[in-house]
Amino acid sequence: MATNFNAGEKTFYLETFGCQMNVHDSEKVIGTLVQQGYQQVQEETDASLILYNTCSIRDKAEQKVFNRLNDTKALHKKGKRFAVLGCVAQQEGEKIFDRAPYVSLVSGSASYRNLPQMLARLEAGEERITGLDDRQTDQTFETEFTARSNPYRGYITIIEGCDKFCSYCVVPFTRGKERSRTADSVLAEARRMADAGYTEIQLLGQNVNSYRDPSGKMSFAELLAAVGEVAGIRRVRFTTSHPRDFTRDIVEAIDAVPTLCDHVHLPVQSGSTQVLHAMQRLYTREWYLERIAWIRAAKRSISLTTDVIVGFPGETDADFEETLTLLAEVNYDAVFAFKYSPRPNTPAISMPDSISDEVKSRRLQILLDHQRELQRISYAKHIGEIVEVMVEGHNAARGQVMGRTTQNKTLNFTTGSPILPAPGSYVQVRITGNFPNSLLGETLVGEALPGDALYSPTLPTPTEASLPKLVTIGALSA
Ligand code: SAH
Ligand code: SF4
Ligand code: F3S
Repeated sequence: MATNFNAGEKTFYLETFGCQMNVHDSEKVIGTLVQQGYQQVQEETDASLILYNTCSIRDKAEQKVFNRLNDTKALHKKGKRFAVLGCVAQQEGEKIFDRAPYVSLVSGSASYRNLPQMLARLEAGEERITGLDDRQTDQTFETEFTARSNPYRGYITIIEGCDKFCSYCVVPFTRGKERSRTADSVLAEARRMADAGYTEIQLLGQNVNSYRDPSGKMSFAELLAAVGEVAGIRRVRFTTSHPRDFTRDIVEAIDAVPTLCDHVHLPVQSGSTQVLHAMQRLYTREWYLERIAWIRAAKRSISLTTDVIVGFPGETDADFEETLTLLAEVNYDAVFAFKYSPRPNTPAISMPDSISDEVKSRRLQILLDHQRELQRISYAKHIGEIVEVMVEGHNAARGQVMGRTTQNKTLNFTTGSPILPAPGSYVQVRITGNFPNSLLGETLVGEALPGDALYSPTLPTPTEASLPKLVTIGALSA
């Protein structure tokens, strides 16, 4: 029997692997732990409870947690307890106890609402505690105790799980069935965040646009617009959109509501209809391109990003070539490309004509080089534009400020002033240069933008200046 925790010993270390949903789940898990009287520490050695929130999307991601457990297992002898959370936990279940017997708790994300009870059992010295709900639950993990790691930009999960079952993917098995929160609860959280000083909200879901309000009040596009209209919110992002559920009213909402960001992430996976069919994506190349045409027809210039898998079983050179031509046709602003990784439980694992790792690597490299060249040209077209960025940080050594545009592009800029704008503030920047993955710029001394709610009191009063020329530096109150 493991040692019980004493009061004062309730410290935890949590490390997160995987996607934004996992990052946000961790914020909620941390909030729950703190609510239960635990204190977060930054080193495993200082913690009585060590938690890993894991990802199993590709084999490499899954291996990370077992490597991590291996590195730290000696700490178990010092009385520390271990918990494995997230997608590897749900996927491997009790097998984790066999592989790593010093683990005391294994829980998938669909069981986090039971964390307080699981923690109480852990504290009572119980071993082999599981929360493995799989596809049974229709509940979402809603908690008031969210320890957000950023004071001005935050996530709201609006839909959990996935019912799509693409033939290569573990998510429907690790995250459970698709279930949405009510629009009212999402909007209430958005308002609470705005009241706390947040200005950017990112709505999350494995397929965010598959959202279905259980109360039937709002469509996804209507919810987007409503979040964008919450007083104090200046930017709304949403990820990840699935092409199957991408409807025209999403583009109309972006056109109508200025706070909705000029960016859509729409994973295509492959440019070949044949491969898309084998992947069970349930759309063709042409069908996907029609959605792209809707986005391109918007009044605003919406940036497009995507995910691609290379080396899916049976992918021929000609199929791969079709992916390259699709990238050129769409002209994406960023592409996240992965080598196909066979995953447990998925139909693709037993498909014939697997592609060698050598061919996968070669295709990946060709794709990345091709995309890099496309972006080098497309990013250069921004030179001369004046755009608003939200400041994210500083590079003191270079005297640069790092910000993000509404199109979700990184923009590094100089201000010509020793006082750098604070993280979370909004600044007008002129773009002066580019790399394939980022932009360069400078602020100009002039006048603040009229109507800007966040300009600093130290700057001149805004005028009707027709061309925005200056820096709006606004420190957030929160
Ligand atoms: N729901 C989103 C994707 C979520 S998973 C969608 O359907 O678009 C994030 C990305 O991981 C996917 O877009 C895909 O490109 C990649 N991915 C998923 N399973 C994979 C696998 N078995 N091998 C390689 N990449 C994979
Ligand atoms: Fe995975 Fe497909 Fe669901 Fe995306 S839609 S999470 S790729 S099964
Ligand atoms: Fe990974 Fe699970 Fe996210 S598998 S990508 S952490 S949904």
